[in-house]
Amino acid sequence: MSKVLILNGPNLGRLGSREPEIYGSADFAELTSHVQAKASALGLTADVRQTDSEAELIKWLHEAVDTGSNVILNPAAFTHYSYATRDAAALITKAGLKLIEVHLSNPHSREEFRHTSVISGVATGVIAGFGVGSYLAALDLVA
Ligand code: DQA
Repeated sequence: MSKVLILNGPNLGRLGSREPEIYGSADFAELTSHVQAKASALGLTADVRQTDSEAELIKWLHEAVDTGSNVILNPAAFTHYSYATRDAAALITKAGLKLIEVHLSNPHSREEFRHTSVISGVATGVIAGFGVGSYLAALDLVA
C-alpha cells in the first residue's frame, strides 16, 4: 500500500479552538480521522503529523525523500517566509515525488502577508480554501 505523509506546520494542533470562523470547528484529531478514512478508501496509508518546529518539519521532508513518499503539506505560517522549508520541499519534487501544498483557508482572501507562498514554486500544485476538503482533494490527486 502506498504511503503518503500528511505534514502540518505550526499552530495547526490548535484547530477547533483557533479562529474557528476561519479554520472551522473540527479539531486536529477530527481532521486526522477524515483524512485517514479517505486515504484508506483510496488504498493509501496516511501518516498524519503536526509540528510547531521548523527543524522537525524539515526532518520529515527529508524522510519523505528517503522513503519515496508523496507529501501533502500544510506549512501554515512557514508558507509565507521559511526558505529552509522551501529548500527541503524542493527535494521532494526533484526526487520525482508529489508535493501538494494545502491550506484550510484561502490565504489570498486574507491579509497581504499571506498572499506570498515561498513553497508554491516548488510544489506540484496547491489547493486552498476548502477546509478539510483541501486535504481530501489532495489525496484524490495523489491516488
Ligand atoms: C493556513 C494559512 C496560513 O496563512 C496560516 O498561517 C495557517 C494556516 C491554512 O491552512 O489556511 O496557520 O496554512
